[in-house]
Amino acid sequence: MEKLLELLTKETETAFEKAGYDKALAKVAISNRPDLCEYQCNGSLAGAKQYHKAPLMIANEVAEFLKESSAFEKVEVCPPGFLNLNLNKDFLKDFLTKMTTEDKFGLEKPEKPLKVIIDYGGPNVAKPLHVGHLRSAVIGESVKRIVRYMGHEAIGDIHLGDWGLQMGLIIAELKIRKPDLPYYDESFEGDYPEEAPFTIGELEEIYPFASKKSKEDTDEGRAFKEEAMNCTFKLQSGVRGYRALWKHILNVSVTDLKRNYDNLNVTFDLWKGESDVHDIIPGMVAYMKDGGYAYYSDGALVVDVKEETDTKEMPPCMILKSDGASLYNTTDLATIMDRMKKYHPDRMIYLTDKRQELYFEQVFRCARKTKLVDDSTDLIHIGFGTVNGKDGHAFKTRDGGVQRLEYLIRDIQENMYKKILEGREMSEEEAKTTANQVALAAIKYGDLSNQASKDYIFDIDRFTSFEGDTGPYLLYTDVRIKSILKKYEEQEGTKAVEVIQSPVNDSEKKLGMQLAMFNAMMENAYEELAPHKICAYLYDLANAFNVFYHETKILSEENAETKAGYIALLRLVLSVMESCMDVLGFSAPERM
Ligand code: ARG
Repeated sequence: MEKLLELLTKETETAFEKAGYDKALAKVAISNRPDLCEYQCNGSLAGAKQYHKAPLMIANEVAEFLKESSAFEKVEVCPPGFLNLNLNKDFLKDFLTKMTTEDKFGLEKPEKPLKVIIDYGGPNVAKPLHVGHLRSAVIGESVKRIVRYMGHEAIGDIHLGDWGLQMGLIIAELKIRKPDLPYYDESFEGDYPEEAPFTIGELEEIYPFASKKSKEDTDEGRAFKEEAMNCTFKLQSGVRGYRALWKHILNVSVTDLKRNYDNLNVTFDLWKGESDVHDIIPGMVAYMKDGGYAYYSDGALVVDVKEETDTKEMPPCMILKSDGASLYNTTDLATIMDRMKKYHPDRMIYLTDKRQELYFEQVFRCARKTKLVDDSTDLIHIGFGTVNGKDGHAFKTRDGGVQRLEYLIRDIQENMYKKILEGREMSEEEAKTTANQVALAAIKYGDLSNQASKDYIFDIDRFTSFEGDTGPYLLYTDVRIKSILKKYEEQEGTKAVEVIQSPVNDSEKKLGMQLAMFNAMMENAYEELAPHKICAYLYDLANAFNVFYHETKILSEENAETKAGYIALLRLVLSVMESCMDVLGFSAPERM
């Protein structure tokens, strides 16, 4: 269905044309002087140059025709030539009624649905998720849901870091700690045990321990690193026992990752990793060499990606190191090749820290230059800023360590649990599930409401507050609406006919006008891949509802038709809110 501002613009276009002016001047926008009017059209000012005429005259002539339009209840000309417009109430009612009958509140379906791969999460196997993993997961999940909501096919891929030296380090350390395991014996021909020889707890302890040891500037440190590289090599060249041990590491770690991402209401369609493209790298390298794209420079194989218009330095994209080893670049390029072959996506969207911006620019250019992607496939990198503590520096634990995501979430859940239990009659069980639900909204909204590229301060006190621009405030508003609807149903049963009415007061009209922006807002959030636009909309919607709620006697309204009209409006607010929340990746409880 058409967007409200487009419909209004059609009305002003007709008026401009009838008055003898170019309809291109007729764009209607939301007023930036809400004290004066609801919408405005400033075309007469631009028209003044085109027609060598005073803008006020043009505006007056247009206004005469605009007064015939049923879309506006007020058309005012304001010097030097603004058209100040207020929406006709029945027009708004019709628009809202249409929203209630159309799928997704009248959001237009795409002519040709696209296939979009979203590469997000990107955790490294055997390393616990830390606070730095939050944004990729939360923003990526929302971007995936936005793409899907718009009617496109979205495929979320976690792209695990499961193949590099970190795997060799773990294997090397296990070899020292558990030398009797059969995995290192290359003459062993039997079946390997089905059970992993370690728990997730051990794994998480082994990795940092091994990593630290390999960096020590001692004979032991150097020898250990040597051995870890040797193990990595054996793993990558397919030595059976090393592969079997690696599978255990992967399984144990992935089970734990799934649990953590589930807690965040983040799910992936594909659990692929860097290892999945290992076998196609040689073919890709040969293709790049044969095509004349890649050449050796100081022993390394590189592809130039510099362009004439570059103002910043653009180093070549390295495909193989001088020792022949592949790099992060290499797996990303091979993954692009693999995705093109298997899925042929129209777009690939990557979510990482913005410090990887230059890296992705190189990879994308290289993929284009070497024709790994079609010209019609978009490659997009969304780089996000850092999660900071209140001191403005990267978020740390109290003792200065890296904050584990799991513990951070647990702290917020506990904080929420206390708040919810305070003075509320709710079973501990319900309080617990509710607390987790509210905590999730607090965390996700706290993150998503910031423009992705900006750093933000993770302020637990603010994020968990029930007031202000927070997740809990939105949930609280949602629950308030549900409670009114419930009371109404207790009063009236469900037989009452609820029809949206023309607004009778100003706050009701404002609420309706905010609802009416939904399809335009969602399209814009999709075009810009910007969940924060949905957050801003939701916050404005919740505020508009709360003003209306405080100024209106809803359940004690005597006129049954008016009352049922309020209820119809509330139902629309509720479903729009819940759809937006779902796209952001959280939901509201029944009560809180
Ligand atoms: N594992 C990587 C890291 O920890 C992130 C992966 C991002 N995705 C990608 N296709 N490169 O930095």
